[in-house]
Amino acid sequence: QETVQSAILEHKTEQFHQSGLLPILHAIQDRLGFIPADATPIIAKALNLSRAEVHGVITFYHHFRQEQPAQTIVQVCRAEACQSMGAETLWQHVCQRANKDNAITLEPVYCLGLCSTAPAISVNERPYARVNAARFDQLLTRHQD
Ligand code: FES
Repeated sequence: QETVQSAILEHKTEQFHQSGLLPILHAIQDRLGFIPADATPIIAKALNLSRAEVHGVITFYHHFRQEQPAQTIVQVCRAEACQSMGAETLWQHVCQRANKDNAITLEPVYCLGLCSTAPAISVNERPYARVNAARFDQLLTRHQD
């Protein structure tokens, strides 16, 4: 509640209510790791929007999580340059690991800006290039120790 309110105060603009919505959502997710369901009515009221409007924006952008992520957040790039360098095999490997390990939240992303050194992933927002299954396993061990 406090985090949601402070994000609203920092990013609410008086004239254009809707324009404050994305910065508020980003601020909440940066601080909590996700957008809690009970934030929606608070934000809607503060910005004079309907709950459906706020919920619609949260669900439209894949970036916004609606549930608390696990301790280790792995993002695997699924965009073209990475796909051409074996990202699909890597994705399948990471899926298998994530299915067996509740401490991993796996998310697709569409370009991490490392296209020339594909395939790319990030682990807890730290980017890694030229990742294959074996390297991923090493990185995961390092992050989870
Ligand atoms: Fe994967 Fe750009 S396409 S990092």
